[in-house]
Amino acid sequence: MSERVQINGRRLWQSLMVMAEIGATAKGGCRRLALGDEDKAARDLFRQWCQEAGCRVTVDEMGNMFARRAGRDNTRPPVGAGSHLDTQPHGGKFDGVFGVLAALEVVRTLNEAGIETAVPLEIVNWTNEEGARFAPGMLASGVFGGVFDLEYALSRVDLAGKGVGQELARIGYAGDVPCGDHAFTAFFEAHIEQGPILEREQKQVGVVTAVQGFRWYDVTITGQDAHAGSTPMNGRRDALLGTAQFIQAVNELALTYAPDGRGTVGQFQVSPNSRNTIPGRVDLTIDMRHPEAVVLTAMDGAVHDIGERIATEMDVAVGVELVSYSPPVVFDEGCITAVQTACQSLGIPYRRMISGAGHDACYISRISPTSMIFVPCAGGISHNEAESARPEDLAAGANVLLRAMLHYAG
Ligand code: HGY
Ligand code: MN
Ligand code: MN
Repeated sequence: MSERVQINGRRLWQSLMVMAEIGATAKGGCRRLALGDEDKAARDLFRQWCQEAGCRVTVDEMGNMFARRAGRDNTRPPVGAGSHLDTQPHGGKFDGVFGVLAALEVVRTLNEAGIETAVPLEIVNWTNEEGARFAPGMLASGVFGGVFDLEYALSRVDLAGKGVGQELARIGYAGDVPCGDHAFTAFFEAHIEQGPILEREQKQVGVVTAVQGFRWYDVTITGQDAHAGSTPMNGRRDALLGTAQFIQAVNELALTYAPDGRGTVGQFQVSPNSRNTIPGRVDLTIDMRHPEAVVLTAMDGAVHDIGERIATEMDVAVGVELVSYSPPVVFDEGCITAVQTACQSLGIPYRRMISGAGHDACYISRISPTSMIFVPCAGGISHNEAESARPEDLAAGANVLLRAMLHYAG
């Protein structure tokens, strides 16, 4: 019976488009920064949809949302599936949201087919995956997976000094369920690839076997505010000039480890940010990635060496602080096989691949058998308002998710 069941692609697409109206931007993207009003609205809609689908919704101390569909034996850990509803500042309609709503579509489909599973199912919305407002990213799945402790996570603040705990309470999602109070029989995250490989190879699904590791840093460069006109060029302690050299050096470091090395300075604040004052301070961020832990360690050492060199050459102080380290992850072989077998039984063209982006599944894989399902996105573009995906590919990914979950849920 269940091998013939197919999800409703039109309903999935419709749900994605309705959710995309929340935080919709003029350029066709979505802006739902974690724990902001748009995130709250998305959470409220998600909860309503899950309750309409007969799920019991609970919220834990980190605001993670769990929508559980009862099975025959509810003493067993649920088969979970989900992702995140928060977005980048210039986010798209599919990053994260697809994984949450594909899991909801699985539940809606099983309801319609009158299929009861042996093991309960659980749809998850993980708080603050992106880390765009509160660093580090994957914060709440990290608490759930035992990577970050609760107090640390609740204390993280945004650039305006607002805290995670404070914002959770403000939007009404400071739950009372302990974060990390249960594991999963298996956990799957469906997601757009956010890269060009599937589209280039005309594959409809990526069977994700692993995720590359990454390190996030906060760097502070401190020189001296001084007059732009009366201060000679030699002897300046220009923090922004030091930053320019740091950015160049990070780029060169990543290229040293081509083709897989990645190095990005995505954010910086200049102080006092005045046209005619030499900047005395710059706060910048570094995102450094590679599939091999040993290379990431070498890159870590190099980042500190760059800091010391620039401090000496530019007569500035350089502070390099590691904000988070997500080691390379290898997913569970059984989950990978379940996804691959689903592609084969559905006749869906697929390829095995490593994820370049980090995902909540990385931290969940520490406590439960986990893997991911990728679908193509146009031009591999993501973290961009132009992000787009084809309804037929999203439906294919959701059908693979349905079968992978049923493989474990019975
Ligand atoms: O940064 C990441 O890899 C994820 O997209 N948040
Ligand atoms: Mn994502
Ligand atoms: Mn993302």
